[in-house]
Amino acid sequence: MTDRALMEAAQKARENSYSPYSRFRVGAALLTKSGKVYTGCNIENAAFSATVCAERTAIFKAVSEGERAFEALAIVGGKEGETAAFCAPCGVCRQVIAEFCPKDFKILLGTPENFGAYTCDALLPFSFGGKDL
Ligand code: THU
Repeated sequence: MTDRALMEAAQKARENSYSPYSRFRVGAALLTKSGKVYTGCNIENAAFSATVCAERTAIFKAVSEGERAFEALAIVGGKEGETAAFCAPCGVCRQVIAEFCPKDFKILLGTPENFGAYTCDALLPFSFGGKDL
């Protein structure tokens, strides 16, 4: 699958965003080494702290289905009715990405028409992980 197709899958997943409180809609698409794609969207809650981000929805869906070998994650977000030029993953999602994603893992950020690829290390330098325990 191409990076562009993964970005388009993230954009499509965004359509399911449940974000009545922030009206900020995010979609994510996670590509496994075996070529399968798990998508996710942000799911908000009236008790705000119960909200889950799109990236974690996708990763948790995949891991709960027994997948642990990942290749790339695409993220597309923005305010309702528009697509942000760049929607960066939050700190909690960066930590979850670092838990499951290998060094050569690609994180695609931007829009399907114009995006860049970033490493986990670039997004979360000096990360705390299993190696520290
Ligand atoms: N959000 C994500 O889904 N991913 C991120 O990494 C950034 C933030 C969601 C959470 C919340 O529903 C809304 O965007 C505003 O923070």
